[in-house]
Amino acid sequence: MIQKIVVVGAGTMGHGIAEVAALSGFRVGVIDVSWDFLNRAKDRIKESVVRLYEKGQLKEKAEDILARIEFNTSYDIAKDADFAIEAVPENLELKKKVFTTLDEIAPPHAILATNTSSIPISDIAEATKRKEKVIGMHFFNPPVIMKLVEVIPSKYTSEDVTNITVDLAKKMNKIPVRLKYEIPGFVSNRIFIRLLQEACREVESGEETIEEVDSAARNKLKLPMGLFELADYVGLDVVVDIWNVLTTRGTPDVKCSMYRNKVNEKNLGVKTGKGFYSYP
Ligand code: CAA
Repeated sequence: MIQKIVVVGAGTMGHGIAEVAALSGFRVGVIDVSWDFLNRAKDRIKESVVRLYEKGQLKEKAEDILARIEFNTSYDIAKDADFAIEAVPENLELKKKVFTTLDEIAPPHAILATNTSSIPISDIAEATKRKEKVIGMHFFNPPVIMKLVEVIPSKYTSEDVTNITVDLAKKMNKIPVRLKYEIPGFVSNRIFIRLLQEACREVESGEETIEEVDSAARNKLKLPMGLFELADYVGLDVVVDIWNVLTTRGTPDVKCSMYRNKVNEKNLGVKTGKGFYSYP
């Protein structure tokens, strides 16, 4: 029975996942390394919950939902957690540290999930003494709006833990897609990166412009954003990370320099104010 969920990492994904958990009735703990990050997360969650409340989309008062969330720089708030979701930057060593700490502090029954979009779940699980209770639970940005959650068992994950995670995603009002095992890129990013490869091919061949590809994606494929716009939104560094994982673990690389060039220029998309488009 899951009552308390702890989220490690209060950034774009972490604060959104914490909000979704609180909106679904769970007690929530949010952990990050500094109060600056935590206070920013608190403000963003409040703004979003109040927006939902004012639109009449909540059954409870905004303050009751917000009161269920505690913030701390200490892992002590994981002592009574039933489920933890790690959402720190995509760096294996960092994630391993988080999992080793959670493994020491969270109660033995707690499931430890990672929101990684590209790192093998088994590699993360090996940092713990409860490998069968480690699983991938991959949300999409913005977590409060996006319905999809990928549930990814590693080679160690028990069937029970996978079932509990699928149920939890449903309780969070999400649509879980349960993978059989941890294929590189899971499902959505395999498709996403291939779309980005095709988009790049069109532009680099000189056939079409970025704006034309994005207009086709919006108005023919009916995506909510153009492909380059979505790459900017996800973060071009994240796109290149996922691309590298896919190409080093099986999918043929495609000649394309657009995304890497932007990262080399330190134009990472929305988060730096400039990518393929500008964000004042
Ligand atoms: N909290 C509450 N409500 C929110 C919100 C938030 N954080 N963000 C957006 N909304 C609401 C807005 O209030 C608005 O509601 P109304 O229609 O009632 O006014 C609605 O959502 C739409 O928002 P906007 O009007 O601001 O903007 P939009 O229509 O352009 O939608 C978007 C924004 C939801 C981000 C939409 O463009 C979208 O779905 N884009 C695609 C996002 C996507 O594909 N994400 C996955 C990326 S991949 C990933 O995350 C994982 C990975 O591994 C890389």
